[in-house]
Amino acid sequence: PVLVLDFGAQYVQLIARRVRERHAFARIVRHDITPERVRELNPLALILSGGPRSVYEPGAPHCDPELFRMGIPTLGICYGMQLATEVLGGKVKGSTARGEYGRAECRILDPAEPLFRDVPRESIVWMSHGDQVHDAGSDFVPLAVTSTCPVAAAKHKSLPFYGMQFHPEVSHTAYGSLMLGNFLDRVCGNPKLWTMEAFIERSIEQISARVGPNERVVCGLSGGVDSAVCAALLAKALGPRVVCVFVDTGLLRAGERVAVAEEFGSRTSAELRVVDAADRFLAALEGVTEPQEKRRRIGHTFIDVFKDEAKSISGAHFLAQGTLYPDVIESGGEPDGPTATIKIHHNVGGLPEELGFELIEPLRDLFKDEVRRLGLELGLPDSLVWRHPFPGPGLAVRCLGEVTAPRLEVLRQADAIFLDELKIAGLDRQVAQAFAVLLPIQSVGVMGDARTYEDVIAIRSVDTEDFMTADWSRLPHDLLARTSTRIINSVKGVNRVVYDVTSKPPGTIEWE
Ligand code: XMP
Repeated sequence: PVLVLDFGAQYVQLIARRVRERHAFARIVRHDITPERVRELNPLALILSGGPRSVYEPGAPHCDPELFRMGIPTLGICYGMQLATEVLGGKVKGSTARGEYGRAECRILDPAEPLFRDVPRESIVWMSHGDQVHDAGSDFVPLAVTSTCPVAAAKHKSLPFYGMQFHPEVSHTAYGSLMLGNFLDRVCGNPKLWTMEAFIERSIEQISARVGPNERVVCGLSGGVDSAVCAALLAKALGPRVVCVFVDTGLLRAGERVAVAEEFGSRTSAELRVVDAADRFLAALEGVTEPQEKRRRIGHTFIDVFKDEAKSISGAHFLAQGTLYPDVIESGGEPDGPTATIKIHHNVGGLPEELGFELIEPLRDLFKDEVRRLGLELGLPDSLVWRHPFPGPGLAVRCLGEVTAPRLEVLRQADAIFLDELKIAGLDRQVAQAFAVLLPIQSVGVMGDARTYEDVIAIRSVDTEDFMTADWSRLPHDLLARTSTRIINSVKGVNRVVYDVTSKPPGTIEWE
């Protein structure tokens, strides 16, 4: 693998993704990983990430200096470069009082340098730093400069170390991906073993070795991408010994149940069981309006329903989960991984441990974009692979106030119209998530000659990469107009539509 040492950078996962796009497997590890452990992992390269600290600050994170002398090709990015330079004899200092953030024009000093093969002599790079290398010292060769940064890139004269002050991993660095590719291919001799075909082949071997011939795997399908791809991968290895359970909570979007059967059921050899539990969920939600309480009750009901179904599956020994690599890292679940910072991820409920299932998580090594590629490779349709995320508690957290069957129906119709209009406008893939929300208030309107006093629908659409922060989509006014007219004309009981123009933060994406 390529080991990406985490010094607290905002972009550490992005570095790993970019490396993988170049077909080398990248793993994020703690910055203080020991040289022994590194030797065991036998990496193709080390990449030292950026980080928010100053290398001279007390308590600033360091790596074992021996790592630089092990003969492993190493790339230091930003803080990673400063750290290595300082350890290997250069000088780092604050660049200006306030640091340097944003675009800079970078000039390559030696066009023959392999790191910059096919990169134009001058190109835009993206900077984000307080400190910078001021003087690399006599053991380094400067490779690039910007108007404010005397050592924008450098390499060591005798050790296989390269440093970049700018961030090659961000898309604003015009040739960043090519530079990373050059590092991997031309400096490290990347054998390009990280491909989806190889991943599928290896996964099938591992799954078949783990699951015995008379054992079955239970998969909970949520209608989302991760669980579907997870089940499809397992089905590729085990066929009908994979039993997929899809719970119809009554809180699904229009057509979702049918879509799961069509998009998933007909394309894999797994067994699909659809459990109709709408009544149980509605009963559990009766009279509840408080958002946390809604989530809690839905979580418990889900576990009960799932347990009842799972018990009826003979020979079921494993429970599959579509856990992804970012979840593993962020929960501190990776042996050499960085320690957990914030746990961001909220799922419907714990797994029913008392059923005695063994957990199987075939997507643990993958990023979301890799899961999508895997899904396509496994024959799942675009409509499933590119589906917007949908929260576990479903429409309940978009039906503000009490959740009743008639209110859900109003919401479902409005939501379907909005999604349809987005699709007609060709924007459904451009926005990250879009939906309708039913508000718990009425407002006055006039329809024909009569005064109305009816429900309000809010529509929300956001643009985001990671769902941690998001901005509201600047949708064309015509699209908003058509959506509003269609909802008010065809959804009974709604006389007003509003568009949510709140970013996250301070808002969340969902309303509850
Ligand atoms: P928020 O509302 O926290 O949402 O900004 C961020 C993303 O997470 C989704 N979400 C959930 N997903 N179970 C899930 O599986 C949940 O309980 C849940 N709540 C929010 C939300 O749709 C958005 O994509």
